[in-house]
Amino acid sequence: YVARKDSPMVLGLGEGENFIASDIPAVLPYTRKVFILEDGDVGILTTEGITITSLDGKTIDHKVFEVTGDAEAAEKGGYEHFMSKEIHEQPKALRDTLQPMLEQKDGLWSMRDDILQMDPGQVKAFDRVAIVACGTAYHAGVVGKYVFERVLRVPVEVDIASEYRYRDPVTPPGTLFIIISQSGETADTLAAMREAKKRGGKVLAITNVVGSSVAREADYLIYTWAGLEIAVASTKAYTSQLMVLYALCTEFARQRGVMSPQEASGMFEKLLGLSEQAQEAITNVDEIQRFASEHFDRHSVFFLGRGLDYALAMEASLKLKEISYIHSEAYAAGELKHGTIALIEEGTLVVAMATQQALVEKTISNVKEVKVRGAYVLAIAMEGDERVAQEADEVWYIPKTDDFIAPVLAVLPMQLFAYYMALMRGCDIDKPRNLAKSVTVE
Ligand code: M6R
Repeated sequence: YVARKDSPMVLGLGEGENFIASDIPAVLPYTRKVFILEDGDVGILTTEGITITSLDGKTIDHKVFEVTGDAEAAEKGGYEHFMSKEIHEQPKALRDTLQPMLEQKDGLWSMRDDILQMDPGQVKAFDRVAIVACGTAYHAGVVGKYVFERVLRVPVEVDIASEYRYRDPVTPPGTLFIIISQSGETADTLAAMREAKKRGGKVLAITNVVGSSVAREADYLIYTWAGLEIAVASTKAYTSQLMVLYALCTEFARQRGVMSPQEASGMFEKLLGLSEQAQEAITNVDEIQRFASEHFDRHSVFFLGRGLDYALAMEASLKLKEISYIHSEAYAAGELKHGTIALIEEGTLVVAMATQQALVEKTISNVKEVKVRGAYVLAIAMEGDERVAQEADEVWYIPKTDDFIAPVLAVLPMQLFAYYMALMRGCDIDKPRNLAKSVTVE
């Protein structure tokens, strides 16, 4: 007997066996037929069947939800870990997420109306954006903040869902809420979304799991088509979330007249090209493997960056700590000298993200500060930009692209770095200690 109250619950309908889980991906290796329970539903499972009733025992005629999609997603397909497989699936995930969103009219790309769902009046009406999410999805939201503010010139707040729900936020009319969640079942994110709706806000959700709670409760919904993500550490979901945010921002800019149709189409073209560049960025992993074999016994790593590079540093740091158990921190590079620099000593490993062309010189000055104190510096820079190479001990280059979309490419070596560091340390990469894939409790 099972019952649902607040936290999600799904029942998987098998043959001679039935399943209970807190989200859809958990049952997919066994069945693609699921019942999604609502609050107050009671399920009675036997090996032969499933009956669903209300709390007072009345039978409810629930529809079976048939999950479609790639059956191979639940297999490692020759990779040692799901995480490595999912990192390498990113070129496809980026393509699969973006292509169905777009259409070409008179030679110009724009977003399809049925994908955006908002009518032109609504697109022009919002004058504030509030993005709410947890963990990696929150980090995608931080990128979203920089990008939306830079392009649309509207104020954007980005909140960690567990903070948002209790901080009694000010939500003026005209706020568009964007909720980001891979699983669509994260308890804090769901609660924050309900809070936003209670305050009269319209919620646009970005999620990867079809039929998830976030998908069902949002006013507007855009799926990332990253496919099933099994490793606890989120990789392809993150880059797909970035892709949706970029596409959204571009379409909003087009409809609000901030970008001409030609400029917006040009940006969509660049986004369409990201998949190929992502492939380039993950093809040669030798350098990353070699670096990991030399540095895997570190106790602490600092990630620095400015602007979008800071948003990226946050994600790079989370990735490393959650799977390798190495302490790591992300710092806005300019904030270093307000305290953290005291921790830099002979041999401290510092990763400096330096992809933002207008900020590279500033980041280089921070690289000099830590080098003088004995740090070993690995920098991430854009192909063709040799400036940081003169100061850092090593530089990894990402394919040349606009600063604006660089995070999609720059995160890839950071995911691989975390992966190989964890591999060298013998960690349980797909199921790191103390963590769950969907955090369905508070
Ligand atoms: O399913 P969600 O995107 O809502 O999950 C949010 C976080 O729990 C998740 O991103 C978590 O931080 C990952 N382990 C990060 O790799």
